[in-house]
Amino acid sequence: MSKNFQGLEKIPRHVALIMDGNGRWAQKRGLSRIEGHKEGAQSVRAVLRAAAQAGVEFITVYAFSTENWKRPPAEIDGLMKLLIHSLNEYEQELHDNGIRLRVMGQFERLPLPVRMRLQKTMDATAHYTGHTLIIALSYGSRTEIADATRKMAEKVKAGTMKPSQINEQTLTEHLYLPDVPDPELMIRTSGELRLSNFLLWQLSYAEFYITDVYWPDFREEEFFHALEAFNGRDRRYGGVDNK
Ligand code: FPP
Repeated sequence: MSKNFQGLEKIPRHVALIMDGNGRWAQKRGLSRIEGHKEGAQSVRAVLRAAAQAGVEFITVYAFSTENWKRPPAEIDGLMKLLIHSLNEYEQELHDNGIRLRVMGQFERLPLPVRMRLQKTMDATAHYTGHTLIIALSYGSRTEIADATRKMAEKVKAGTMKPSQINEQTLTEHLYLPDVPDPELMIRTSGELRLSNFLLWQLSYAEFYITDVYWPDFREEEFFHALEAFNGRDRRYGGVDNK
């Protein structure tokens, strides 16, 4: 049954998701970890659909962190294959809902077939402006901030930027996706209370919603609960409530 997202007063422009618990979901059922990731990919699809329906403009999913390269090669390979398979499966849905695909992270570290598959869909959806799906791949927030700092240092060295011009705004402008607004809501599944090197700079003022539900079980209903919780939050950005 479709949820009444229209009844919600505030809809976050950007929702970031840490999709955790695929492995535990699979283990509980005696399945392989990759089966958990496969079911997790269906949750990405369900959340994408629900977000478009709710009017959320940007969704960022943490699909593969820089630390995930330490996982067994078979699991990494399975995840990369799943990514290609999922893009084949969702592409039409991206077009039907006018969703642009973008990627953030160390793109060049990804296997060539994955890069090619991603690039194809990024190019084919680049003209959509209403909704954006951002997949964080080989992503680490500290690396992103260090890279931004190095880019500015190089400009200072070349004489095109002054040290006095380094501030919050210019640092933001040197991150991977400078034109994307900060997430207002961060959802983490499977109960872990950690940021795991995800969007450390961009999540400074985000509301956090942590649920015990494993990612493969996080579907439209769970997304609706997260938006409901967001509606109940009083966001003051360090100021005082003047009600
Ligand atoms: C964390 O669960 C999940 C991941 C590292 C991978 C997430 C990837 C997907 C859902 C695949 C598809 C993605 C897209 C964008 C199509 P875990 O393995 O750490 O679970 P555990 O903590 O229970 O072991």
